[in-house]
Amino acid sequence: MKIILAVETSCDDTSVAIVKSNGFVLFNKVINQDSIHKLYGGVVPELASRNHAYHLLPIIQQSLKQINFTWEDIQYLAVTNRPGLVGSLLVGLVTVKTISALLNKPFVAVNHIEGHILSAFLWDKKIKQKKIEFPFLSLIVSGGHTYLLEVTNFGEYKIISKTIDDAAGETLDKIARTLELGYPGGAQIDKISKSVTLGQHKFPKIKIKKNNINFSFSGLKTSALQLIQKTQACTNKQLTASLCADFQEAVMDQIMDRLNTVASQKKFKYIVISGGVSANSRLRKKAQDWAALKNINLVLTPLEYCTDNAAMIGLAGIKLFNKPQTSDYNINCYPYSLPEDFT
Ligand code: KG4
Ligand code: ZN
Repeated sequence: MKIILAVETSCDDTSVAIVKSNGFVLFNKVINQDSIHKLYGGVVPELASRNHAYHLLPIIQQSLKQINFTWEDIQYLAVTNRPGLVGSLLVGLVTVKTISALLNKPFVAVNHIEGHILSAFLWDKKIKQKKIEFPFLSLIVSGGHTYLLEVTNFGEYKIISKTIDDAAGETLDKIARTLELGYPGGAQIDKISKSVTLGQHKFPKIKIKKNNINFSFSGLKTSALQLIQKTQACTNKQLTASLCADFQEAVMDQIMDRLNTVASQKKFKYIVISGGVSANSRLRKKAQDWAALKNINLVLTPLEYCTDNAAMIGLAGIKLFNKPQTSDYNINCYPYSLPEDFT
C-alpha cells in the first residue's frame, strides 16, 4: 500500500494530509484563515499567501510526528497547482518541489476540482469506506466551482454542465456578507435558516433556455440584494433568518433541478455530491429524499471532507501516480484548469 503526503493551499485554507492509496486518511489538518479574512468580507490574496507561508511547514512536521511516521514512510508527494489564487498555490508548490528535490521523492501536481470529485472516496477511523462505481455523475458545488461531470474512471472527467455566472457558494457568501453574517457565509446561512418557516419570500426559478442544464445564480443574487434593500433586512433578525432560508431554498432547488434533469437524461451507476456547499443541510436532505424516491445510489461526501482539504488532493495524486504522470520541476501554478483536465 502506497502512502502519499499532500498539500493544499489553493485559497485561504492551509492543509496537509497523509493518505493511503485506498483512500484511508491517516492525517488531515486544515488551518482556516476565516478570522483574518472576515474583517474584509472576503479572501485577501496577499494575506492568504503570507499565512500559508507561516503555517505550512509546521503542519507538515506535525503530520509525520502525530502518526509516528518519518519521511521513509512516505512514497509520494502531491500538491494542488490549479485552479486557485496563484500567490497561494505558489507557497504549496514551491514547498513540495523543495521537499521532493531534497528527499528524492516524486511529486504530482493536482487539479483542485479533481480533488473535490474524488473526495467522496475518503474514509478514516470514524468514517466508513463508501462503495462508488464508475461511471458516476459528480456534482461539485463549492465557493468557486459549480459543475456536473461524468466520471468514467480516475482521471477521466467530462463536463456536462457548469455555471454561466457565479458559483453556488460565491452567491451564498455574497448575500451573507450583505447581511453581515460573517465569512464564509454559506455555513452561516445554513445555520440561521434552520427552524425557519419557509415561503415568506419569493425568488424566481431561473431557466436559462428550454432544457438548459447550466446553472445561473446571478439572478437569484440580484433578487436577494433588492429584497434586502427594500425590507431593510439587516436591521431585523427574524427577517434576516426568513430571507436567508428562502434564498438558500431557491439556490438548493436550482441545484437539485439541474441534477435531476441530467440524471434523467443518462443512466449513471452512482451520483456523488462534493464541494463546500455539499455540507449544506438542506441540500443533503433534498438529495437524500430525491435519491430515495428515484432509487438512485447517492453518495454524499463526508462532512469533514466537503470543504477544502489536502486529503482529497492526496487521493487524486495517488490515482495520478497509478497512471504515471509525475510532475517535472518546471511545472507551474495556474489560476484556471488546463484544457487537458476535462473533456
Ligand atoms: O470547497 P470549498 O471549501 O472551496 C472552494 O473550492 O471554493 O467551498 C467553500 C464554500 C464557501 O462558499 C462556503 O460558504 C460554502 O462552501 N459552505 C457552505 C456550507 N459550508 C461551507 N455552503 C452552504 N452550506 C454550508 N453548510
Ligand atoms: Zn475547493
